[in-house]
Amino acid sequence: MAIEVCGGSRVQGSLRVQGSKNAVLPIMAAAVLCQGETVITNCPDITDVHAMSEVIRRIGGQVAYEKNCLVIDSSAVGTGVIEEEKVKEIRASILFLGSLLARFSKVKIHYPGGCSIGSRPIDYHLQGFARMGVETSECGEYICCEAKDGLCGTEVSFPFPSVGATENIILAAVLAKGITKIRNAAREPEIRELCGFLRKMGAKIQGEGTSSIVIQGVARLYPVQWKLGTDRIALLTWSMLTAGCGGDVFLGTDLWFSKAEIEILSAMGCHIWHNSAGVRISQQSVPRPISYLCTRPYPGFPTDGQSLLMAALCKGSGVSLLEEGIFENRFKMIRQLKKMGANIDAVSNRACITGVTRLHAADVEADDLRSGAGLLIAAAMAEGVSRVSGEQFIDRGYEMAEDQMRTLGIRAGRSA
Ligand code: UD1
Repeated sequence: MAIEVCGGSRVQGSLRVQGSKNAVLPIMAAAVLCQGETVITNCPDITDVHAMSEVIRRIGGQVAYEKNCLVIDSSAVGTGVIEEEKVKEIRASILFLGSLLARFSKVKIHYPGGCSIGSRPIDYHLQGFARMGVETSECGEYICCEAKDGLCGTEVSFPFPSVGATENIILAAVLAKGITKIRNAAREPEIRELCGFLRKMGAKIQGEGTSSIVIQGVARLYPVQWKLGTDRIALLTWSMLTAGCGGDVFLGTDLWFSKAEIEILSAMGCHIWHNSAGVRISQQSVPRPISYLCTRPYPGFPTDGQSLLMAALCKGSGVSLLEEGIFENRFKMIRQLKKMGANIDAVSNRACITGVTRLHAADVEADDLRSGAGLLIAAAMAEGVSRVSGEQFIDRGYEMAEDQMRTLGIRAGRSA
């Protein structure tokens, strides 16, 4: 199977941007902190959500999904083992470490292995848990974590503002004894959404969205209903598609871009307006180059947007320089872009992209979620019919990407 894209034309139309993948995954881990039924609406229909649901079922919970509504009944959840296949399938399953430790003081999980965008260790997560009174031992390929005297509030300071580690410590701290202070916390919008959800459940949290978060543990949390916000990376994906192909689109969203994103889209030549229903993006020229950009933790330009931006910059006039500041292995897509005629030189974590006048169709292969989205953008910019395989990576984070592209006037479909 592959996604087939007939590229070379401008985009037009309107699209409702899906709910946030990176917000729903920690919220699903948070749902096991209480007993009873959690309802999440505007939940994207993506395989990461279904894989995370399977983990919850394996530890005794019940999960139902219908028409963007996810219902999690965590009443019968017990302390469980999170197996290798699940950790490999969905790395965010490590977030159950925090929530299961909070609920049962004990959890066993397969050690997460390498991953195609970098090594992605979990040392910051484990160091934070250790400060909260968790003892960790290795049992073969598994890590066993146990807080014999329960979790205790403490001060946790991260060497780097890791999103996952910040979420894991928050999940552990909401039911811990006393106060936990997280220093150098990640400031990503998904952290704010997780904290909003936890606060609705009854948690006491202050400071999310800043680098210093304070959590006062409570005795009990309660199930709630929650409407997920827009996926900011999906919003950026369809915006970069417009920036690369040219055209005029309306994207239905409750979200506005970050300053870093606006600066880049504007520098590429896009005009952007917004109202309460969404954003309109118009690109009347070929993409203009970006003299230099380095991806950074929020509020910097997101690493998840780097492949999208790189693809859009392949066409046009001028030279762009991109530096990857978060993950070491995010340039594998370059080999695929070159098959379409892109002119890119990369050394280590820096890539120099010289815009070309035309890209041509090719058979290309994605090997992670965002490179897959980047290749879809490049395929839409390239003349002819391209086949993007590795669609299982794209399905992890996008609700039927080819349908969404068709809504924006691009001929796209799935082929055998
Ligand atoms: C999350 C996002 C991912 C995004 C990334 C950075 C989810 C489900 N995934 O991933 O889409 O690309 O944030 O914005 O929300 N690190 C360590 N030790 C640790 C933890 C992290 O060295 O214990 C390093 C990583 O190798 C990486 C950097 O810190 O270089 C950032 O990783 P982190 O913010 O933790 O990313 P994730 O939470 O895995």
